[in-house]
Amino acid sequence: MADQWQEAYDFAVQVARAAGAVIRKAGEEEIKVQTKSCTVDLVTKTDERVEKIIIGSLKEQFGEGTHCFIGEESVSKGQPCILTDKPTWIIDPVDGTTNFVHGFPFVAVSIAFAVNKEMEFGVVYSCMEDKMYKARKGQGAFCDDEPIQVSDVKDIHKSIIICEHGTDRSPETVQKIFSTQKKILCIPVHGLRGSGTAATNMCLVACGAVEAFFEIGIHCWDIAAGAVIVKEAGGLLLDVDGGPFDVMSRRMVSGNNMVIVNRIIKEIEIFDTVRDDAPIVNK
Ligand code: IPD
Repeated sequence: MADQWQEAYDFAVQVARAAGAVIRKAGEEEIKVQTKSCTVDLVTKTDERVEKIIIGSLKEQFGEGTHCFIGEESVSKGQPCILTDKPTWIIDPVDGTTNFVHGFPFVAVSIAFAVNKEMEFGVVYSCMEDKMYKARKGQGAFCDDEPIQVSDVKDIHKSIIICEHGTDRSPETVQKIFSTQKKILCIPVHGLRGSGTAATNMCLVACGAVEAFFEIGIHCWDIAAGAVIVKEAGGLLLDVDGGPFDVMSRRMVSGNNMVIVNRIIKEIEIFDTVRDDAPIVNK
């Protein structure tokens, strides 16, 4: 069936927009903050509420039991994080929770849909800016319905690179992150940036505002939707060691072309993370 998932794609866009409206409204009220894996891994009632709204709407639309769900907040409460061949939604209800808590104006709803472990489409709604990014496999990438394309810069010296710091504050990890950033900055590149939401960072690669974004420690829900958007905008994704991209590996480089991506990979100091789909005892 040629267009089997079009209805799901259109519905995901609607759901992301509605979820974004809930987040904007919640940002005007008092935000109660709790922590998850460590003191800088934040969660709010809004993350939980928005995830429930999204999963509830999808179940109502497509029927209970027909699709699987991997949602950031459900996983943090012990739900499995395993990608099978079944139609699976991968959801980050509030990507950029720290930004949300502080009123830093970049927060995204990220919704991806995979079948046979391959992403069919991705939707990222940058809700404070009211920008809707979306892409469906083989059909191009869009921002507010306008086609988007990665940058054509091949000279690393003329690039902007996005890097984030994640939530691991162990001195060894922080040392590697800063050492990598220092080496990239001193190539030199035009600049380093970071929006505080991985999903939005990937959309910035997709629309050509920056040349690359890399991170170790992100989760599948942060990057699954952005991965389709980057690919469909003509970009590429690799593991930080240059191997194939694996959405569950918690490591990723996304960029506009091989020249830029390979140059960045040369400088990345890799540190260990536990895969998203590792058995719970290892986490
Ligand atoms: C975080 C953001 C941030 C990235 C972290 C993620 P969350 O997601 O995407 O940019 O650096 O690694 O965990 O927790 O706000 O959904």
